[in-house]
Amino acid sequence: MKILNFGSCNIDYVYSMDHIVRVGETLSTYKLETFEGGKGLNQSIAIARAGAKVYHAGCVGEDGKMLTDLLSKSGVDLTYLKTVEGKNGHAIIQVSSKGENSIFLYGGSNEMVTEDFVDSVLENFSEGDIILLQNEISSVPYIIDRAYEKKMCIVFNPSPFTDEIKKLDLNKLSYVLLNEVEASEFSGYDDPEASLSYFEENYPSLKVILTLGSKGCIYLDNGTRYRQYAFKTNAVDTTAAGDTFTGYFVAGVCGGIDTARNLKLASAAAAITVSRMGAAPSIPLMDEVLFTLGTLKSGESDAKSEMLKKQIVDYVEGNVKDASLSELASLLNYSVIYSGHLVKKLTGKPFSKLLQDARCDKASEYLIRSDMSVREIISAVGYENGSFFRAIFKERFGDTPLQYRQKKGKFI
Ligand code: RIB
Repeated sequence: MKILNFGSCNIDYVYSMDHIVRVGETLSTYKLETFEGGKGLNQSIAIARAGAKVYHAGCVGEDGKMLTDLLSKSGVDLTYLKTVEGKNGHAIIQVSSKGENSIFLYGGSNEMVTEDFVDSVLENFSEGDIILLQNEISSVPYIIDRAYEKKMCIVFNPSPFTDEIKKLDLNKLSYVLLNEVEASEFSGYDDPEASLSYFEENYPSLKVILTLGSKGCIYLDNGTRYRQYAFKTNAVDTTAAGDTFTGYFVAGVCGGIDTARNLKLASAAAAITVSRMGAAPSIPLMDEVLFTLGTLKSGESDAKSEMLKKQIVDYVEGNVKDASLSELASLLNYSVIYSGHLVKKLTGKPFSKLLQDARCDKASEYLIRSDMSVREIISAVGYENGSFFRAIFKERFGDTPLQYRQKKGKFI
């Protein structure tokens, strides 16, 4: 089984700055660095650094020597990489002091992938070979159609997302690797689990890897959902983290690595990429991933705490009138004492204060949006003692309930 990656190669101009520039704003930058990048190139380098053989097909411009140098130094086979006349594709990347990025692209050589060139490359590959694609080159739908005819295993990363991508027949793909925004473009659902259900129902044989940024990823394969939490890392630059994950994942699929292990290695590799500046140069070798794996901390406990906190807050807000710690404890399946401890730890407030605040918030909503009298509201949020309620309400909002209603007006 061979791996062919038909993809882009970019020169990345990376500007470090305080924050991503806003509309109409002019901002000075701290420094400008130039790196090898492009989703295609990054993913080929990740595959090679994960230890698998990969053929990279695509077009570089006359100024793309730094890209071919790094690809060949990393062990990528360049038999199908063509140098074309004109400028190489490039990316302008802003990286904020928090490690967030914002990218815009100039296609250049990446848009010179013609159908004839695609045919000439694909004739060297056959049934069962893996073909990896992103959406930064021309002729992507054509490549998918031809690769499907040849019964190749098509792995598609629909990034950057375009309307053309939306029209593709996903039944032709074996794997799709996408983020929440891209998943919602296909499915119409913002919720990741709902998006996965959409793919499950409409494309039952498609394997889906849904990446969730710092929350990790979920992999859907034939009805089974595998969850991999992201590893914690000091984020310096997130560029190429997704590409590293994709490349490592594809190399693992080709090498027959067990799914859970493969997801773990791919996530660890992505975490290392995030901790360094630049795209391709920040992608680690498998040796480093294996060496670091034992020292990386999983974000699993953070994610679980977040879920637990949401459960607690949802319960209290949904039951302001009758909520009790003992009912919450049985819902969480913990003892009352431990639940009280958890509430304090996760919300920063004891249960009684959390409930008190939720009752005041609910009352403020009724004051603005209903015709109920203050007395009715007090009882609706679970209080019998009116003067106690008025005191805590004033403490929270700085006004008595009546003053609050007068100031905010009532919108029914
Ligand atoms: O995914 C990161 C890559 O996106 C960058 O290297 C940049 O070239 C853009 O293509």
